[in-house]
Amino acid sequence: MIRSRITGIGFHVPPRVVTNHDLEKIMDTTDAWIVERTGIRERHFVEGDVGSSDLGIEAARKALADAGRTPADVDFVVFATTTSDWMFPGNGVIVQEKLGLGNVGALDVRNACSGFIYSLSVADAFIRMGQYKCVLVIGAEVQSTGLDLRTEGRDMAVLFGDGAGAAVVEPSTDGSGILSWALHSDGQFARDLWCEAPSSRVPGRVTQAMLEAGQQLPRMNGRQVFKNATTRFPEVINEVLVASGHTLADVDLVVPHQANQRISDAVVQRLGIAHEKVFQNVQRYGNTTAASIPIALTEAREAGLVNRGDLIVLAAFGAGFAWGGCAIRW
Ligand code: ACO
Repeated sequence: MIRSRITGIGFHVPPRVVTNHDLEKIMDTTDAWIVERTGIRERHFVEGDVGSSDLGIEAARKALADAGRTPADVDFVVFATTTSDWMFPGNGVIVQEKLGLGNVGALDVRNACSGFIYSLSVADAFIRMGQYKCVLVIGAEVQSTGLDLRTEGRDMAVLFGDGAGAAVVEPSTDGSGILSWALHSDGQFARDLWCEAPSSRVPGRVTQAMLEAGQQLPRMNGRQVFKNATTRFPEVINEVLVASGHTLADVDLVVPHQANQRISDAVVQRLGIAHEKVFQNVQRYGNTTAASIPIALTEAREAGLVNRGDLIVLAAFGAGFAWGGCAIRW
């Protein structure tokens, strides 16, 4: 039986570190408030004109090296981001050109925090159907340039960071690899975490009035996000475990999308799983949206927490609302 397996992972974050104390200097917030509500202590922000494709390309290079592959081996690219360099085309083609991948297909995925899991499911389907043998999956974001870094925007601004992670996905015949995944959405909550502009509904895409109202900035109903996330994470983790014939007791590590520590703590409590079995690095990166799972997965492996034969569960929830999970025999 052919499965698909992650054969290489890597991540890249821009060098500039922005601490909570740095944010205290530009808006009315405190390190204590941010740490207590989110667990976040610092995040990375890009400088100059660095785009999400630049971060993604660096992560992709590391993932390819980790897999022992070169750009010539890649036969398809999936790029997950909500913050592509341009309105169109998406970042996939930028990677194709800059990495010199030949004329392979490049797909762009916009499922925000769940983007990496959605992308992984696409890679898995293509590989299991025999269409491709080496798919490069990238999740990368530059959130910092779209945040309202004034006190008015503090509820969201303190949460997000920039970064990228990537995975190389290849066929496997030894029983290892992706065992199951599940994808869900509920568009009734689309306006609870969204960025309205630029919009194709508007002649000129954005008006002065929209800019003045801040419609080009992301907005969030934090409590609604929190409530849904803490329900959907445990639900989808259990769903992929049932689908793969496992229970929570079999799991070696859950690597969730890194939204905030309090969401993870609530998930740990609802699942009744040991704290050490749920990986956390949100304190150092904040929420990097589509990049957060591959960054966390890479750091978890570097920490010796992801080893051949382990049962690893990925789970994500975010804008849409869209959420998903994936069970992997590493
Ligand atoms: N610094 C200081 N004070 C702040 C800040 C800040 N950065 N942000 C908000 N406040 C204030 C508010 O103005 C409010 O003040 P008031 O009582 O005088 O009106 C007070 O703090 C409490 O605000 P709440 O919004 O009620 O705070 P809450 O306890 O709900 O926490 C938070 C807010 C952290 C955003 C929470 O709702 C949350 O974690 N939601 C999930 C959001 C999330 O993770 N989004 C990421 C994208 S989706 C995903 O990845 C899953």
